[in-house]
Amino acid sequence: MEMKKQLPHCLVFTISLLLVIIWTKAQAPDYADALTKSLLYFEAQRSGRLPYNQRVTWRDHSGLTDGLEQGVDLVGGYHDAGDHVKFGLPMAFTVTMLSWGVIEYGEEIARAREYEHALEAIKWGTDYFIKAHTSPNVLWAEVGDGDTDHYCWQRPEDMTTSRQAHKIDEKNPGSDLAGETAAAMAAASIVFKETNPHYSHLLLHHAQQLFEFGDKFRGQYDSSVGVVKSYYASVSGYKDELLWAALWLYKATDNEVYLDYVINNAGNFGGIGWSISEFSWDVKYAGIQIIAAMLLPEVKHKKQKEIIEQYRSKAEFYICSCMSKNNGTNIERTPGGLLFIRQWNNMQYVSSAAFLLTVYSDFLSNTNQNLSCHGITVTPEELFALAKSQVDYILGSNPKNMSYLVGYGSRYPTKVHHRGASIVSYRVNKGFIGCTQGYDDWYSHSEPNPNVVTGALVGGPDREDNFRDDRGNYMQTEACTYNTAPLVGIFAKLNQFSDLRLIASY
Ligand SMILES: *[C@@H]1O[C@H](CO)[C@@H](O)[C@H](O)[C@H]1NC(C)=O
Ligand SMILES: *[C@@H]1O[C@H](CO)[C@@H](O)[C@H](O)[C@H]1NC(C)=O
Ligand SMILES: *[C@@H]1O[C@H](CO)[C@@H](O)[C@H](O)[C@H]1NC(C)=O
Repeated sequence: MEMKKQLPHCLVFTISLLLVIIWTKAQAPDYADALTKSLLYFEAQRSGRLPYNQRVTWRDHSGLTDGLEQGVDLVGGYHDAGDHVKFGLPMAFTVTMLSWGVIEYGEEIARAREYEHALEAIKWGTDYFIKAHTSPNVLWAEVGDGDTDHYCWQRPEDMTTSRQAHKIDEKNPGSDLAGETAAAMAAASIVFKETNPHYSHLLLHHAQQLFEFGDKFRGQYDSSVGVVKSYYASVSGYKDELLWAALWLYKATDNEVYLDYVINNAGNFGGIGWSISEFSWDVKYAGIQIIAAMLLPEVKHKKQKEIIEQYRSKAEFYICSCMSKNNGTNIERTPGGLLFIRQWNNMQYVSSAAFLLTVYSDFLSNTNQNLSCHGITVTPEELFALAKSQVDYILGSNPKNMSYLVGYGSRYPTKVHHRGASIVSYRVNKGFIGCTQGYDDWYSHSEPNPNVVTGALVGGPDREDNFRDDRGNYMQTEACTYNTAPLVGIFAKLNQFSDLRLIASY
């Protein structure tokens, strides 16, 4: 018998499978690449002393005397966007969303080998919150202020603007800020439970104290910290953040006290009253309602079940309005299919909606349910398909063929409204660049930014899918940490989903 050299069948199968995967992957968005890039963005936004393993090397140390005037160490934390103010409320919301993403999609993030980076992004925020929470009823709310910061166009490394710190305390309450920071630390404590139990415990301790502080000394933080008013005023008040904090504390502790709080205050805090079509650093109701709805399978008492059912009905209002299946009150879409809430930084609402849709889709599918929007059946697959379409739009499947995630794909915004990115790197030119010199030499020139703020999700297009890549067009070209934060988990989920689907379809 003649021996023919032949590849075993299983090997032929494996090779052709790999070829199919490689070929199909070339057509599909590269979610793994998007995931890696999204986490780099948080390194670009770092304030403070940068560590030896800092990967975004056009940045250097900054804000090293933050808090010094007030006798408190506030070095660290994140710039919110294209400026250098450290705003507590959006920073905390960013950390809550990053943590929620890791809680839901930690395995998928780990499989893409980004778990360590995701935890570092969270810890950069929580380390700062620990510093800012100097005693049980004192939380530093902000370093610097928008007015003086925006007067200058400088690199963070050159900053000459005021770094005065502002706080909330018993006499100057801020239940929204205390609540959101408690939520962030409680959510992060779940993330670190396995890998760093000591740190997790510390975070939980701070979270519980902050929640008590916020609940006992009630008030809106923008009344206490006036300088935040024109930038991050708490329009929805503090009741949503108190419910939000209590829910995250319940998830972190399993202590019924927190669940009771969410049940007993459901009515007077608007948890089961507000039907809302946006989820943001300010307005948490949709997120609260969705987390509450997902507790339904585990609540035992009749009264709890009744209230949770009402939360669920509001959660589904939000989801149905994203799906355009509500009677009259749907979220607008652009002709290219992007969810559209408002002109200024619309992408923040898109990424947060995509996250909530993905999480709720998983919940429905894990509990073997469909959703009913005014009698119309909607499947979990349809929810996920909408989330995916929004993410794919972000990554370039849109009428402009433009990726709104900076640094991803072949076409993306090159004039992002970002001080550090738009000025020559401090590593390249250490010469001091003054306050107005930055405006004259860098802000107004027509060239692309010298540094790419990779992984930043910019404000994005208008209601007609139009986008003008111009540094002065901050409504569209500025990016914020809370735009990218919800994407981390979804990118990981989509990455795994597209691999599995390819294998299944083969
Ligand atoms: C939808 O709204 C219209 C007008 O408000 C009303 O007549 C109709 O009954 C509603 N349909 C459902 C299914 O709620
Ligand atoms: C959900 O709806 C789909 C499509 O209508 C149907 O095939 C499926 O059986 C439904 N699932 C459940 C759990 O009702
Ligand atoms: C986007 O890409 C499609 C397909 O390659 C092409 O037909 C279309 O003209 C492009 N649009 C723009 C604005 O570049």
